[in-house]
Amino acid sequence: MAVVAATDQAVSDAAKHLRAGRLVAFPTETVYGLGADATNGAAVAAIFAAKGRPRFNPLIAHVADVAAVERHAVMDAMAHRLAAAFWPGPLTLVLRRSASSAISDLVTAGLDTVAMRVPSHAVARELLRRAGVPVAAPSANRSGHVSPTLAAHVAADLGADVAMILDGGATQVGLESTVAAVEQDRVTLLRPGAITAEQIDAVIGQRTARAFEGGAQPLSPGQLERHYAPRARLRLDASSAEPGEGLLAFGPVPHATSGPVLNLSARGDLIEAAANLFAHLRALDATGLARIAVMPIPAHGLGCAINDRLGRAAKGR
Ligand code: TXA
Ligand code: MG
Repeated sequence: MAVVAATDQAVSDAAKHLRAGRLVAFPTETVYGLGADATNGAAVAAIFAAKGRPRFNPLIAHVADVAAVERHAVMDAMAHRLAAAFWPGPLTLVLRRSASSAISDLVTAGLDTVAMRVPSHAVARELLRRAGVPVAAPSANRSGHVSPTLAAHVAADLGADVAMILDGGATQVGLESTVAAVEQDRVTLLRPGAITAEQIDAVIGQRTARAFEGGAQPLSPGQLERHYAPRARLRLDASSAEPGEGLLAFGPVPHATSGPVLNLSARGDLIEAAANLFAHLRALDATGLARIAVMPIPAHGLGCAINDRLGRAAKGR
């Protein structure tokens, strides 16, 4: 495995690997991605093989700018409005795929839509510019495991399968992008994420449909799986840890706590909690304890995406 600091030279080498059909892990503002040339079917197939990801779960195509998005997908006025507000940044738009797009059917899992994202991370942007192709990139973890927010997390999960891991330090947001489908100027949120539903509502001037709430049929195949899971079991909404449990805290830690504790945010800040979530889950898992008690997280703003990830991580296997 080759973890390499994301110097100018390393980013050029990584772009060469991508153009040659090899896999490269790279930092984005959300989590690390496992990238391949989205127009190269064999390279994209290698992503599914490395992650152990089911082929029916489509990937996000990452590009450097809106002009590149429009080479592969149809953007209506609403898509442009969201793009102007949030790109570059942690929003993924599911759009109608254009007939002329060279993106592989493996990326879209045969759907007539394609998920597009223009990330804001400087390393990701430079890599996309130099690669000159759309880059398919799921989170760089084994399928179903906790998403990576450090290069070391990628190395632990997928080190043997990638040509290179570009190390850009800890990712800032720590939660995946928000996924929103846009069709005929209507927006449907498919996955809660780094851009809050409230932020999107504010831009479009009304309450956006939330397809992930209230047992609605999931429209995003990835939302079907048990996901984001450590080896330990999670016990949610815990007021304290029982003997033999680790504690994933939020806010003040209960006095009687004896086992290992990691606090998402001692001051109760959801942005800080999002940035710490996946690394803390991995670290508590590494203690070898069978169970992790998780204190309640408020269900607004980024708390919505945090609770989504915790809920799916807690599902029985
Ligand atoms: O922040 C992120 O989005 C990270 C970084 C690397 O960009 N990527 C990421 O990819 O989280 P992944 O593969 O772990 O999640 C992509 C989600 C899945 O839930 C997938 O089902 C959904 O996007 N998706 C992709 N294409 C879709 C489509 N055409 N229609 C509906 N959902 C789609
Ligand atoms: Mg993922």
